Amino acid sequence: MSSTLAPSAAEKPTSVDRSKIKFLLLEGIHESAVKTLRAAGYQNLQLHATALEGQPLLEAIQDASFVGIRSRTQLTADVLAAADRLLAVGCFCIGTNQVDLDAAKWRGVPVFNAPYSNTRSVAELVIAQSILLLRRVPERNALCHLGQWDKTAERSYELRGKTLGIVGYGNIGTQLSVMAEAMGMRVLFCDVVTKLPLGNAQQVDMDQVLSQADVVSLHVPETAETIDMIGQRELQMMKNDAVLINASRGQVVDIDALVAVLDSGSLLGAAIDVFPLEPKSGREEFVSPLRRFHNVILTPHIGGSTVEAQANIGVEVAEKLIRYCDNGTTVSSVNFPEVSLPAYPSKHRLLHLHENRPGILSAINQTLSELKINISGQYLQTFGELGYVVVDIDAQYSERALMKIREIPGTIRCRVLW
Ligand code: NAI
Repeated sequence: MSSTLAPSAAEKPTSVDRSKIKFLLLEGIHESAVKTLRAAGYQNLQLHATALEGQPLLEAIQDASFVGIRSRTQLTADVLAAADRLLAVGCFCIGTNQVDLDAAKWRGVPVFNAPYSNTRSVAELVIAQSILLLRRVPERNALCHLGQWDKTAERSYELRGKTLGIVGYGNIGTQLSVMAEAMGMRVLFCDVVTKLPLGNAQQVDMDQVLSQADVVSLHVPETAETIDMIGQRELQMMKNDAVLINASRGQVVDIDALVAVLDSGSLLGAAIDVFPLEPKSGREEFVSPLRRFHNVILTPHIGGSTVEAQANIGVEVAEKLIRYCDNGTTVSSVNFPEVSLPAYPSKHRLLHLHENRPGILSAINQTLSELKINISGQYLQTFGELGYVVVDIDAQYSERALMKIREIPGTIRCRVLW
């Protein structure tokens, strides 16, 4: 159960029936999310197959406690301001650019997403692309479509026994590493962090990855260091008949340098799923100098786009919203201090979001002490300009405590759970 009070709100906390907490789910969010929410007792779900905008969005969101979106719905500061009762936003996707994260933060609304639910989908695609490229299937497929019969074993290789070089040994890189070894590959990887290798993989430096691997696959985030990290020098270090795969971020490969190397014929091919400039919709033409190469597999940023990933995303984000609503846990929120909270049987839990400046925690404790309220558990985390303190107290005191604590200067939002 939960009750929310903005600092200026006048009403007293009241017990809220969970079935009345409205979840507005837009953009045809996978039914796995609906099932997860229903199983947790949340029945008041308003589902829309498409994105909403303008007045229909303002009307639908105005009494929603939670909103679930994918990439199309724009939650601007104005839209968030119209959502008086909003407790949290779930982005059932990876990106969160469609939400004004700062505006949400200052309204005390955490935003959650699902950064890792499609890890397996990306890793499987990379394995498939490795096999197809080493067998020169893309170019021979193209020739067959033109009526030509290029039947030769020349420059066609098995995957088994080849070396996979992984740049970025995170969630996707490690998953790929395990699958590649199961296919009989030797795995080398590089990362800015020293990582415990899975299986028989070996951490080396990037030059060793580039100069020894038959398949180089990129799995780094986009940062100042990774933009154009694969340029002319790096491509020229790669072995003859090696292949390059990029399903990470479009800026990581210098496309002009890749074009030059492909023109030279030294690489067997490449598979590129992400591009520096991608069409915003299916109506825009995809423009790239790579289109003319038959030995390059071009895919429209679908590395993580599978039915299974969508189902995983549905469960992952729905569970994050449920945990925040039931318990106050904010782990993996993209704009909030992250706190992982235990259960609080027979207590009431105060969730206090405030400006991160000295004195607020002591003001909360001072207030509780003056009210003679005993604290049975307390948790604090800060994130940039925000502080999030959670206090468990005896049930009979929560109403009084909430009334006083919300008056502490610097309070952004205060809520009590029970
Ligand atoms: P992750 O955060 O789990 O792993 C990234 C790894 O790269 C970390 O181990 C990090 O230490 C390492 N790293 C960072 N900077 C580095 C550098 N300069 N050199 C070497 N290593 C570096 O990320 P995850 O989930 O594995 O995703 C990897 C990439 O794949 C991301 O860019 C993500 O956006 C992209 N992605 C693409 C998808 C698609 O549809 N094509 C779907 C999902 C993710």
